[in-house]
Amino acid sequence: MSDESGRRGIDSNLTSYGDEGFSRYMRRAFLASAGFDATDLDRPIVGIADTSSEYTTCHRGMPELVESIRRGILEAGGLPFVFPTGSLPEILMSPTTMLYRNLLAMQTEELIRSQPMDAVVLAGGCDKTVPAQLMAAASANVPAISVVVGPMRTGSWRGERLGACTDCRRFWARHRAGEIDAAEITEVEQSLCPTSGTCMVMGTASTLACVTEALGLMLPGGATAPCGSGDRLRHGVAAGRRAVDLARSPVRPREILCREAFHNAIVVLSAVGGSTNAIVHLTAIARRAGLALGLDDFHEISARVPRLTDLKPAGNGYLEDLHRAGGVPALLKALEPLLERGAPSVSGPTLGEILAVTAPPRDWQTVIGSLENPLGPSGALATLRGSLAPDGAVIKAAAASKSLLLHRGPAAVFDSPEDAAARIDDPALRITPRHVLVLRNAGPVGAGMPEAGSLPIPRYLAEAGVKDMVRVSDARMSGTAYGTVVLHCAPEAAIGGPLALVRDGDEISLDVDARRIDLCVEATELERRRAGLAPRPLPERGWPRLYAQHVLQAHEGADLDFLVP
Ligand code: FES
Repeated sequence: MSDESGRRGIDSNLTSYGDEGFSRYMRRAFLASAGFDATDLDRPIVGIADTSSEYTTCHRGMPELVESIRRGILEAGGLPFVFPTGSLPEILMSPTTMLYRNLLAMQTEELIRSQPMDAVVLAGGCDKTVPAQLMAAASANVPAISVVVGPMRTGSWRGERLGACTDCRRFWARHRAGEIDAAEITEVEQSLCPTSGTCMVMGTASTLACVTEALGLMLPGGATAPCGSGDRLRHGVAAGRRAVDLARSPVRPREILCREAFHNAIVVLSAVGGSTNAIVHLTAIARRAGLALGLDDFHEISARVPRLTDLKPAGNGYLEDLHRAGGVPALLKALEPLLERGAPSVSGPTLGEILAVTAPPRDWQTVIGSLENPLGPSGALATLRGSLAPDGAVIKAAAASKSLLLHRGPAAVFDSPEDAAARIDDPALRITPRHVLVLRNAGPVGAGMPEAGSLPIPRYLAEAGVKDMVRVSDARMSGTAYGTVVLHCAPEAAIGGPLALVRDGDEISLDVDARRIDLCVEATELERRRAGLAPRPLPERGWPRLYAQHVLQAHEGADLDFLVP
């Protein structure tokens, strides 16, 4: 692909010295020092955006994957350049990787845009790395292909199959309820993540991998191959080879990221009972590509798509099961009547052409259902509106308690994730199972939107056997979590949204069928409370300050306002 001046390969995106001949001469001199000769530099250049980091344990298998991509590029006659970018370790980053998704997107975009690169392979995996890379690809619009590091394999504890991180949460809840002692939870801790790779349930990383394949930005079969497996490494080689084709006859990301592609991605998101985080990320990616995707798009498509996979947290299986059953291609085959078959793909053919030669789900398997015999009802993801969320909120109905989808109860309010951590187990709060737990100031501006929305059940209720309660917040929830949890309320409390006005004891009404979340308090009383709201101070400096000044609300993708076209 040529740069803005029509140059390709090593002569693209020249360093500015005011003398182009000098720029080329300098570039070749320094590359000669790295062993590159004229034959090398005549090839199309394919960058590999590498999100390896020792902090991102999920990417421990990335170096081997990057080597396979590099081999594919060399085999196809390209010249690979691996370039490190930031990485976003979901479990080791404070307060939340979401605060840094846009920073990684911006950094990746600028590194693609500013270096000689005819195509790029985006090597990601852990939750926010993939959406950040896709946002970058949509903005830079250099031919791009996504490769993920792949999911972990499952472990076991005392004969029970385990995986991160739905089982992390389930066992922690049992520990809090007194069913598992300290020694046992330590044994569980050592069994949850037995191999390299991303979380092996249908959490955010797996969801994003599957929707990226459905978007057409990943070669077929790339979402589910386990990390370190031969399937994963062969996929890396194939992606490297294909990236060289793209460098020679470019298909740009924005041609692939069309409305039909997002339709297909939302169909898959719904069919896998995927992470609510994907709603924010797909919205952000679409907006980078110039498409206005809204909450209603998610709701309307989800309402027509039954759950077709038996995967945690909505079901029982793990990603390796889905891979053995044929992976996303087999799932797409099962979903074919609901898909936009004319959508293009980075592999060349349209989705319809790919599906014409795709085998249906293998008949011995049980992890992929059919439209005739689905594994769960439609409407896995629902979007809500109401006086508590005028601009919208979301709930993962597939992971909620049926008995709580229509509920009214008094609020127990926590002013921040820290406040909730400090007080939620305090019996003096007299929280009952009828209460609605409200968490605020955890939205994009307030706290970078951490995955704090699935507040724990107060310990004394958990010990009494309470497994679920209605929870409402402007936060997000991990894709591996479950429960009746209303998320992403917009506008958020930190900018004066209605969550800021809730007081302990106020009645809150949830009606998922009617798509409503309401604060049952008179408007005049709410106006009186609003007059007493104090503006929240911004972070003092650096990225958190810039982020808080420019981040958009959840229903707009939580991108920075100056990055959206
Ligand atoms: Fe990295 Fe789950 S923590 S994918």
